Amino acid sequence: MILNSLSLCYHNKLILAPMVRVGTLPMRLLALDYGADIVYCEELIDLKMIQCKRVVNEVLSTVDFVAPDDRVVFRTCEREQNRVVFQMGTSDAERALAVARLVENDVAGIDVNMGCPKQYSTKGGMGAALLSDPDKIEKILSTLVKGTRRPVTCKIRILPSLEDTLSLVKRIERTGIAAIAVHGRKREERPQHPVSCEVIKAIADTLSIPVIANGGSHDHIQQYSDIEDFRQATAASSVMVARAAMWNPSIFLKEGLRPLEEVMQKYIRYAVQYDNHYTNTKYCLCQMLREQLESPQGRLLHAAQSSREIWRAYPAQITPKMCLLEWCRREKLAQPVYETVQRPLDRLFSSIVTVAEQKYQSTLWDKSKKLAEQAAAIVCLRSQGLPEGRLGEESPSLHKRKREAPDQDPGGPRAQELAQPGDLCKKPFVALGSGEESPLEGW
Ligand SMILES: Cc1cc2nc3c(=O)[nH]c(=O)nc-3n(C[C@H](O)[C@H](O)[C@H](O)COP(=O)(O)O)c2cc1C
Repeated sequence: MILNSLSLCYHNKLILAPMVRVGTLPMRLLALDYGADIVYCEELIDLKMIQCKRVVNEVLSTVDFVAPDDRVVFRTCEREQNRVVFQMGTSDAERALAVARLVENDVAGIDVNMGCPKQYSTKGGMGAALLSDPDKIEKILSTLVKGTRRPVTCKIRILPSLEDTLSLVKRIERTGIAAIAVHGRKREERPQHPVSCEVIKAIADTLSIPVIANGGSHDHIQQYSDIEDFRQATAASSVMVARAAMWNPSIFLKEGLRPLEEVMQKYIRYAVQYDNHYTNTKYCLCQMLREQLESPQGRLLHAAQSSREIWRAYPAQITPKMCLLEWCRREKLAQPVYETVQRPLDRLFSSIVTVAEQKYQSTLWDKSKKLAEQAAAIVCLRSQGLPEGRLGEESPSLHKRKREAPDQDPGGPRAQELAQPGDLCKKPFVALGSGEESPLEGW
């Protein structure tokens, strides 16, 4: 990946908060699509990260940080490289620096979690435990500021007294960090306790660095316009949203919330594209569904034991290309390669997909490159006797084309109509690798 020399700016930003299990790549990309400016990854523990190897994943076009047991601990991609902040859990300055150096070329910022009140964090001296050890905070942050080329931030909770809180944040600011995120609750407080906008405001009034206000979901933030109200109420530079984004990441969309069904389908597409583990996908979808978990679809999702079973609960948007990609991964084949050409005569498209050195192509020509690729994927799936997913709202013309095909198809009598999406067809259409003439000839 290309090194990023730009420094992330924390002023006037909408930020996806760090959330364990929720803040993996599909959610971060979806939040960016909907308008988030900066996205934090879930908290990753320094001891775990330090054992990871950086691996460029050519198949997915991602950079993976892989543990010795081959588990992907952190996956990122170029699309988020200038927007993703890596949050770590740490209680040791040298370890923190080693992790920062490991990831710094692939992320836009480094953050230290100083707010997690959970025992698994605090018993190792991490998270909110750091709040009672300002010397350690200072050591960790100043080591990071000196040692990494990325902006360093931290995320804190407030202390029992305002005076102590202000003196802590002033000390933190002197370490040279770029910004500070403040969750306006005390260590022992839970989401049902009101967030203290006044304390965040007092911090914002005191510091010169950007303050990122956090803690407003539910009580203050339920829709896009509430984010700005929360920013004003706290006089902060930026706002970081956790639960409201977990429930529906389109909270970042200026035009207002999108229907959950649509959001979930977009999430699933990213989950498939980036080979997200099905348990993580399921967890995130369940967080979005909330009270609808008891619906028939929700129950299907809850019971899902594989990516396929998740798709069964939400089948509408699983396209043939996604099906084919997933099948190739399962079969340990190289990912499908599409070559698309446009016919000058009528500007229609045709695509050839290569899978396991075989080429597949529909005899029908399409109005767009996207549809031509989907058609080629269907041919391949059918010739393998595989379910082919469904084409949703993005490709209605593939259905419409069934009526148009006779005029458009240069193959005349060879042309075959596509079966209804979801049908299973074992008969190959055209497998160019098996002796059929290639319509690409002559190009
Ligand atoms: C599921 C979940 C996971 C969380 N994981 C983290 C985490 O990894 N690191 C962190 O600093 N805070 C974490 N938090 C706390 C949030 O970042 C945020 O501070 C808190 O939810 C308050 O913000 P909100 O009112 O917008 O939800 C998590 C919260 C939730 C709901």
